[in-house]
Amino acid sequence: MSIASNGYQSGFGNEFASEAIPGSLPEGRNSPQKVAHGLYAEQISGTAFTAPRHANRRSWLYRIRPAAMHGEFKPFEQPLLSKGVLHNDFDTGPVTPDQLRWSPLPIPETPTDFVDGLVTMAGNGSPATQSGIGIHMYAANRDMQGRFFYDADGELLIVPQQGRLHIETELGVLDVEPQEIALIPRGIRFRVALPDGPSRGYVCENFGAFLRIPDLGPIGSNGLANPRDFLAPNAAYEDVDGDFELIAKFQGHLWRADIGHSPLDVVAWHGNHAPCKYDLRKFNTIGSISFDHPDPSIFLVLTSPSDTPGVGNMDFVIFPPRVLVARDTFRPPWFHRNIASEFMGLVYGAYDAKAEGFAPGGASLHNCMTGHGPDAATFEKASNADTSKPDVIGGTMAFMFEARNVIRPTKTAMDAAHRQRDYQACWAGLQKHFKP
Ligand SMILES: [Fe+2]
Repeated sequence: MSIASNGYQSGFGNEFASEAIPGSLPEGRNSPQKVAHGLYAEQISGTAFTAPRHANRRSWLYRIRPAAMHGEFKPFEQPLLSKGVLHNDFDTGPVTPDQLRWSPLPIPETPTDFVDGLVTMAGNGSPATQSGIGIHMYAANRDMQGRFFYDADGELLIVPQQGRLHIETELGVLDVEPQEIALIPRGIRFRVALPDGPSRGYVCENFGAFLRIPDLGPIGSNGLANPRDFLAPNAAYEDVDGDFELIAKFQGHLWRADIGHSPLDVVAWHGNHAPCKYDLRKFNTIGSISFDHPDPSIFLVLTSPSDTPGVGNMDFVIFPPRVLVARDTFRPPWFHRNIASEFMGLVYGAYDAKAEGFAPGGASLHNCMTGHGPDAATFEKASNADTSKPDVIGGTMAFMFEARNVIRPTKTAMDAAHRQRDYQACWAGLQKHFKP
């Protein structure tokens, strides 16, 4: 059972419109007395009704059955064998300021789908306060079968690292491969298939304001992630009855209910509360052509603003292929401590601030005011490099979920066998060069 992609519409947060059967979209009104083809009209709102127009998100769905039709929700436990542990209990107790790093999350040996394979690594805030983030990883090896999922707590930014994702949503299908990302808005129901089998990736669950492409300021009207490169799906649906389950993420935990039909039954829709995908290789990377390099905010793809101007609830930043030309400059990311907290992942290739240890599928966490930067090997090499010539940083795609609040690692992440307990040793070899 699978729904094929019906193509895409281009743009970010546009007022999209699509119908899988011609004549399904009502004209001139959202909720006519009778919808064509016997469909139900249903609105999904992603923002307060009265949010300013530029920030208002809602869509109208024309579907075979309304979303209200399902059984009673009961708590759902991921199978222990898969080691899946998805939650938003980020505790209030002591949290280590140590630099932390993990090797890639192991692919499970038992049959595990996208939902069962989600493991919470870290997070802050809560869905109850509609601020903060949950950071999860998934490792899975089979399609979701007879099962649909939605997240009422936040939108999902999915960053596949290994294996493509065939994401069938209520609004249509996203086919996403590593070096692409998917954005699934709060509440949208979906099912994930894994065309390549064993698959792994990262998920940022954003409890705050929805992610958007940033203002460009002095950069001008082009650059970074261009709106036309974001793709929302065209409507695609299935009309299937059967014994299925609907899994909900609600207030930090998972719930399940019986549902007697596929909820992927939206024949037509219009609006701007819609899933989308984006190819990170289309990012127009901007940097210094004189000396030094700008703060990594120059690599900002998407931002979830907080209530404080200029301070993101979460920023999604990438470190893509680029050419470094700054002269008489230490070219890798410098040593630093930030007020923001940084969870990093690597989709592909090597990251230019670390010689080894940070593998594709791995992760690192550097929290507020925790010192970090290039390892000893990278420092020595870059300090003695010939900066009269350009450095071509190719074949790489690293990223960062950056948050204003401390990102608290979970017990699962701290206890994980794949946590690198010797991570701090990567700076131990830095020599004293001081000569007064
Ligand atoms: Fe950093």
